[in-house]
Amino acid sequence: MAEKGARILSGMRPSGKLHLGHYHGVLESWLKLQKEAECLFFVADWHALTTEYANPADIGQNTEEMVIDWLAVGIDPQESIVFLQSHVKEHAELFLLLSMLTPLSWLERNPTYKELLTETKDRDIHTYGFLGYPVLQTADIIIYRATRVPVGMDQLPHLELAREITRRFNYLYGETFPEPQSILTEAPKILGTDGRKMSKSYNNAIYLSDPPGVVEKKLLTMVTDTARKTRKDPGNPDVCPLFTSFHQLYSDEDTLKWVREGCSSAAIGCIECKRRLIPEILGRIEPIQRRREDIERDRHLVWQTLEEGSLKARSIASSTMEEVRRLLSLR
Ligand code: TRP
Ligand code: SF4
Repeated sequence: MAEKGARILSGMRPSGKLHLGHYHGVLESWLKLQKEAECLFFVADWHALTTEYANPADIGQNTEEMVIDWLAVGIDPQESIVFLQSHVKEHAELFLLLSMLTPLSWLERNPTYKELLTETKDRDIHTYGFLGYPVLQTADIIIYRATRVPVGMDQLPHLELAREITRRFNYLYGETFPEPQSILTEAPKILGTDGRKMSKSYNNAIYLSDPPGVVEKKLLTMVTDTARKTRKDPGNPDVCPLFTSFHQLYSDEDTLKWVREGCSSAAIGCIECKRRLIPEILGRIEPIQRRREDIERDRHLVWQTLEEGSLKARSIASSTMEEVRRLLSLR
C-alpha cells in the first residue's frame, strides 16, 4: 500500500471518543500504515475552530479523549509522530504564505465548501477561515513533504486542491514539494444502531469505550432487516445493517453461513443472531479498553506525548519553512 520512502500524514479533527466507524474506517488503516512507513498523525484543532469558533470550550477535552483512543488501539508514539496542529505554529505561517498564491475561485468552487455552506444552519460559517480550510490542510501536508495522505471519500476534493496548490507553488518557485497522493481508506460502511451511517451526531454510535453492557444493549436494540417484522418472517442479511456492518467483519465463514441460511429461512431469530456476534465484538474491544484504562490513570501523559510529538514535528516543519522563506525572498 505504501511504497518505499513514503511519508504518510493524516489528521482528524478533535471529535472526542471514537466509535467503531472510526475504528474500521480510519484507525485500522493507520495501524497498518504505521508498520509499513514513516507516519505522522495529528489532531487538527485549528481546523475544528473553522466551524466551532463560537464554542471552543470542548476542543481540549475532545482532543484528549480522541488521542486516548488512538493510543489505546495501538498508534505508537515511538513509531509514529503523534502531535497537535496548534503546537506547530509553522503550519500557520505556511498557511498564510499559501493563501497568497491560492486563487479564490479554486476555494469557492470546492464542492465540500459549497455543500456545507448551504447545509449548515445552526452556525455561521461564512468566514474567511472556513473558506481557507483546504489551504490550511495543504500546509499541514506539504510542510512535512508528505507523499501519501490516507483519507476517506469525503476528503478527496480537499486532497485534489492540495495537489493543485502544491503544483502552483512548485511552478512559481521551483520544484519544492512532492505532490501528495491520497490513500483511499477502504472504509467498510459501518452503520449505527438506527441503520444510518454511524455518526456521533446521529446518536447511533457504538463507542470503543462503551462498557460491555452498553455495547450489548446497543446491539440487541439495533435495527435489522426492517422487512422482517416477526420471528416467522424470513429476512435478507444483505439489507440488514447488523449483518453488513458487523457479521461480515467479525464472524467466520461458518457463522456467516449459519446466519445466511437461518435468516433467509426464518430458522433463527434476530436476537439469536445478535447474540452470536456480541462476544466477537466485545473480544475485539476488550484489549483496547484495558489499554484505555491504563492511559486514563495518567491523563497528563497524553499531553506530554503530544508535546513530545510536536517537538519532532516542529523540527521537520521549521526546516521546511527556512527553505520556503528563502524561496519567497523573506529573511
Ligand atoms: N480535514 C480532515 C478531516 O476533516 C482533517 C485534516 C486536517 C487532515 N488536515 C489534514 C487530514 C491533513 C489529512 C491531512 O477529516
Ligand atoms: Fe439481520 Fe440476523 Fe435478523 Fe437476519 S437474523 S435480519 S441477519 S439480525
